[in-house]
Amino acid sequence: QMEPPHVFVVFGASGDLAKKKIYPTLWWLYRDGLLPKVVYFIGYARSDLSIEALVKHFEPNCKVKDGEKEQFTEFVKKCTYVMGAYDKPEGFEKLDSVIAELEQKYNGPANRLYYLALPPNVFAPVTSQIKEHCMAGSGGWTRIIIEKPFGRDTATSAELSNHLASLFHEDQIYRIDHYLGKEMVQNLMVLRFGNRLFGPSWNRDHIASVTISFKEPFGTQGRGGYFDEFGILRDVMQNHLMQILTLVAMEKPASLNAEDIRDEKVKVLKSIRPVRVDDVVLGQYVGDPNGKDEDARQGYLDDPTVPKGSTTATYALAVLNVNNERWDGVPFFLRCGKALNERKAEVRVQFREVPGDIYPSGALKRTELVIRVQPNEAVYIKLMTKRPGMGFDVEETELDLSYNSRYTDVRLPDAYERLILEVFCGSQINFVRTDELDYAWKIFTPLLDQIEKEKIPPIEYVYGSRGPREGDELMQKHGFVFTG
Ligand code: BG6
Repeated sequence: QMEPPHVFVVFGASGDLAKKKIYPTLWWLYRDGLLPKVVYFIGYARSDLSIEALVKHFEPNCKVKDGEKEQFTEFVKKCTYVMGAYDKPEGFEKLDSVIAELEQKYNGPANRLYYLALPPNVFAPVTSQIKEHCMAGSGGWTRIIIEKPFGRDTATSAELSNHLASLFHEDQIYRIDHYLGKEMVQNLMVLRFGNRLFGPSWNRDHIASVTISFKEPFGTQGRGGYFDEFGILRDVMQNHLMQILTLVAMEKPASLNAEDIRDEKVKVLKSIRPVRVDDVVLGQYVGDPNGKDEDARQGYLDDPTVPKGSTTATYALAVLNVNNERWDGVPFFLRCGKALNERKAEVRVQFREVPGDIYPSGALKRTELVIRVQPNEAVYIKLMTKRPGMGFDVEETELDLSYNSRYTDVRLPDAYERLILEVFCGSQINFVRTDELDYAWKIFTPLLDQIEKEKIPPIEYVYGSRGPREGDELMQKHGFVFTG
C-alpha cells in the first residue's frame, strides 16, 4: 500500500495572504517534517505566472536559513501553478487534471485541501466550482479552509454558511480564526480544566470581572479600504475576542472531542444577550501632532484609503453578561483597538475582595489571574504576600510563568502553522463551527445595525493613547478596579 498523496491548493496564490502567511507556513511545516510524506502544493490565481515567479514572490517571507537551501529546493519542486478564473469551469478542470495526474502516479485518490486566500466576494463561486470539478474520488477526502470575513452580519454570514452547507459537510469546512491557533489561547482549557486550583473559584461567587483585551500600536497601515467596511467590532471583537470569551466561560466539555468542545462554546454564546448600545464605547483615532513617526501623526481619517468622514470605529469596548448560573452578573469586558499605546492581547480575571478583611483598609488588592497571549506569552497571578523582612506589611506581587524564561529552548509555532497542520490531521477543535459563527453574529448584529442606522459617532482618541477615557469609565462603572 502506497502512501496517499496530499494536495494543498492555495487559491489566490499571488495575493498578499498567500505570500506572507500561507506559503511560508507550508514551507515551515514541510521543513520540520510535519506534513504527510507525499505532499504537493498547487497555487491557483488569475495571473499568468510561472512557478518560478510565484516562488520568487513568497520566498523572502520563508526565512530560509543557510543549512536549509537544499530542502527548500526540494519544497519548491513540489510546488506548481495553475492559472484560472474564479468563476469559470476551465481553470478548475485544469486543476483537477493536475491532481488526477498525481493520483495516477501514486495509484490512488489524493486527499485534497483547498485554502481560499481570497476576497469574500469569490468564496461562493470558487466553492461551487470546487464542488463541481475538484472533489476527491472515493477513498480520498476534501477539506475547505476559509478565513474571515464570514459575512458582515447575521444575514450575510448565514447566506455564506448556507451556501457552504449546500456543497460540503460540516466536517469538511475549516473556518480559521487565527486567535485559536495561539499558544496561550490553546492553553486556556488546560489551565482551567487541568488545575484543581481554578475550578472551584471559576464563577460569579469569586470572580468580579473578566477583561479580554486586544491592543495594537499602529493604525490601518494602508488597509483602510478593507478595514473601513468592517470596523473593529467585526474585525476583532466578534471573532477573536468572542472566541477567547467562550473558552474562558464555557463549562467543562464531556471530552476533548471537537464536537463536545464546540457544543460547550455554543452554549455560552446562546447565553449572551445581544450587546446594547449603552454597553459600548466606540472610538476612532486622530493623529498625534507630536507623534514619533509619520504613521503616528496620521489619524484614521487621514488614511487616503478611508472614505471621507467615515464613522467607523477603530476602538471598541463592550460589556457582556453571560446569563447562566455560573456567570450571571459578572461583566465580561471586551476591549480592542488600533493605534493604542502598546501591542498586547490578554485575558485578565479579576477576583472579588476577600470577605472579612483583617488588614488595614485598602491594603489588600484584588487577586488577578492574567493570561498574556502576546507579546511575551505568560501566565501570572497578582497576589498579596507579606513584605519580606521584620514587618508584617502586606504587598502585592506576582507568581509569574513567563514563557521566555521558563521555556527557553522551545520555539512557539505560529498560529497558522498549528492550524494548517490541524487541517491535515482532520482536527476541528480550533475551527469555528457554523452554529457557533451564527450565534456570535447574533450578539453583535442588532448593535451593528443600530450604529449604522443612527450613525453613532465614535469618540476621538489620540494615536498612541489608552483609547477614550470613557472606556475606562464604563469599566469602573461595572466594578472593574484599576490596580495600576
Ligand atoms: C486580524 C485583523 O484578524 O488580526 C487585523 O484583521 C489584526 O486587523 C490582526 O491586525 C491581529 O492579529 P495578530 O495575530 O497580529 O494579533
